[in-house]
Amino acid sequence: IKRITTSIIRDMKNRGEKISMLTSYDYSTARILDDAGVDVLLVGDSAANVFAGYETTLPITLDHMIYHASAVARGAKRAMVIADLPFGEYQGATEDAYKAAVRMMKESGVHALKLEGGTEIIDNIKKIVQSGIPVCGHLGLTPQSIYKFGDFGVRAKEDAEAAKLKEDALALQEAGCFAIVLEKIPATLAEEVSKMLDIPTIGIGAGNKTDGQVLVVNDMLGITQEFKPKFLRQYLNLNEEINNAVKQYISDVKSQDYPNESEQY
Ligand code: KIV
Ligand code: NA
Repeated sequence: IKRITTSIIRDMKNRGEKISMLTSYDYSTARILDDAGVDVLLVGDSAANVFAGYETTLPITLDHMIYHASAVARGAKRAMVIADLPFGEYQGATEDAYKAAVRMMKESGVHALKLEGGTEIIDNIKKIVQSGIPVCGHLGLTPQSIYKFGDFGVRAKEDAEAAKLKEDALALQEAGCFAIVLEKIPATLAEEVSKMLDIPTIGIGAGNKTDGQVLVVNDMLGITQEFKPKFLRQYLNLNEEINNAVKQYISDVKSQDYPNESEQY
């Protein structure tokens, strides 16, 4: 099978073929998503939320992310695998950001990194890109800045923030990013940015005019229950399916239906 690369997803944008991306945090899920044909797997720092149960993405560490990323990388045969660099690892000195990026690449085996932010971190992005590591940008609702925003509401509704986002998008493209995630911004703005850029945009809560879409896999499969934003389409109610299966198992254990004669040695 031919691996999806940064140049392939760039070609997809040019051809008008939409890019499919889902998050993944473990080997078994990565294998299922990869077999189904998803183009890109994102080892998101949303692992902090849906894997570890934290309220924000801030607590997850580089070591945690490397562990998740290496598991996903082992499970993906065709998909390109992108890993988030976690909060605190790339906003300071360029040397520190570079070292974190190199550690993630060496120790996890992923193919690219994602960093949140625009002009504020542009020198660090340039250094990482110049070292040969493909970088995906992330603008709009960037969850690592949740305490700056105050809530998880839609970003860039006002002209000033929309103008800043466009400036950031151009700066990221200029710095050599191969794609940009646009999270929770008005669909019209996401369309404008997608048309303005040569590199692909991947939207989440950003309408259907971006060059691709990404969802948190636990959300779209209905494992997550409490999180139901307007943009989320739930393709499965896995919470209910698992609940039913586990109830059946408990009942079978209690009644000694399980294991039966063919299930023993
Ligand atoms: O961590 C994550 O899951 C993400 C996506 C929502 C883009 O960054
Ligand atoms: Na993330």
